[in-house]
Amino acid sequence: MGTVVLGTGSCLPSRVLSNVDLEQIVDTSDEWIRTRTGIENRRIGGPGEKTYQIAARAASEALSMAGVTAADISLLIVGTISSHMLMPSCACFVQQEIGADNAFAYDVNAACSGFLYGLDIADKHIRADRQAKVLVIGAEALSSRLNWQDRNTCILFGDGAGAAVLGHVEDERRRILGTNHRSDGRLWQLLYMHQSPSTNPDLLVPDNPGVHIIMEGREVFKHAVKAMEDAVDGVLRATGMSIWDIDLLIPHQANIRILKKLMERLDIPEEKVILNVMHYGNTSAASIPIALDETNRAGLLQPGKTVLFCSFGGGFTWGATLLRW
Ligand code: ACO
Repeated sequence: MGTVVLGTGSCLPSRVLSNVDLEQIVDTSDEWIRTRTGIENRRIGGPGEKTYQIAARAASEALSMAGVTAADISLLIVGTISSHMLMPSCACFVQQEIGADNAFAYDVNAACSGFLYGLDIADKHIRADRQAKVLVIGAEALSSRLNWQDRNTCILFGDGAGAAVLGHVEDERRRILGTNHRSDGRLWQLLYMHQSPSTNPDLLVPDNPGVHIIMEGREVFKHAVKAMEDAVDGVLRATGMSIWDIDLLIPHQANIRILKKLMERLDIPEEKVILNVMHYGNTSAASIPIALDETNRAGLLQPGKTVLFCSFGGGFTWGATLLRW
C-alpha cells in the first residue's frame, strides 16, 4: 500500500549525432569514445525540441499510459539543469504546454539525480494526500550547455526527456520501499556549469568562461562509483534486503566504465542492469526516466518486481531508490 508508478513516457530528439560526426568537430575518434565511455550516439535537440517541449511529450505519453489527465495532476516536478530559461521554471512551461492547470509546478536542480530527488518528493506528497497524482519528469537539452571545443566533455552528453506519473494504490506489496539520497557541496569544483555573466559591467565575474559544463573526469569517475555503491548499500540495509533480492537495476547512464565498475562492486549480474548509454550518451536527469520507460514498454516491469535506481551528478548529488513495482 503506497506510492507506485502508474505510467511512463519518454521523448528523444530526432537528430542523431554519432561519434564519427564528433570526429569532424573535435580531435577525437569513434574508437576512443567507445572504449572510454561506451557511447556510440547521442540525440541533439532542434527547432521545436526545447527542454520543456520534449518534457511535455514525455509527460503526455506517461499520462496516457497512466489513464490520468493533465488536469488530474496536483504536483509537477521537472529535474533539469538545462531549461531554455532560468525563470520561469521548465516545470511551469510544461504545465502550460500540457494544460496541468490544477498543479503547482517547480524544477529540481540536482543534475543527474534530479529525477530520483523528484520521486522522493512525489512519494512524500502522495503519503500526505493519497488522492494526489504527481508528474515527475527528467528533461535536458545539454547540447546547449556544452563547450563544443572541449573534447573532455562534449562527447559525453545528450538531450532527452523521460516522465513518470505517480499515485497511491491499496496493494500492500507495491510501493517505494526506501530511499537514500545525499549531496556534498564541498566538491562542486569537480563538475559544474556557470551561470550567464551579469550584464552590469561593474559586476562581471572576470573569469566566467561561459555557460557550459566543466569537469575533472577522473575525479568524477572515482566519486561516482563509490557514491552509488554507498547509496545502494544504504538503501538495502535500511530495507533489510540484499542485492540478490533485486530484479532490475536502472542506474543513471553516465558511461559504461562507471556502470561496469559499479556492477562489479555491487556484485550484480549484467543481465539485471538496464544499459542504454550507448544510444543516448549521458542525458543527466533524463537518463533514468528514459531507461525506465524503455524497460516498462519492453514489458520487463510487472507488479511485484523489485526495482532499484541509483544516480550521481554535479553538486555532488547522489542516491538510490528501491521500489516494488
Ligand atoms: N578523444 C580523444 N582523446 C581524449 C578525449 C577525446 N574525446 N578526451 C580526452 N582525451 C585525452 C586526454 O587529453 C588525455 O590525453 P593525454 O594523455 O595526452 O593528456 C587522454 O585522453 C586521457 O585523458 P583522461 O581524462 O585521463 O581519460 P580518462 O581515461 O579518465 O577518460 C573520461 C576520460 C571518459 C571523461 C573519464 O574520466 C570518465 O568517464 N569520467 C567520468 C565523467 C562522467 O561520466 N561525467 C558525467 C557527469 S557525472 C555523472 O553523470 C556520473
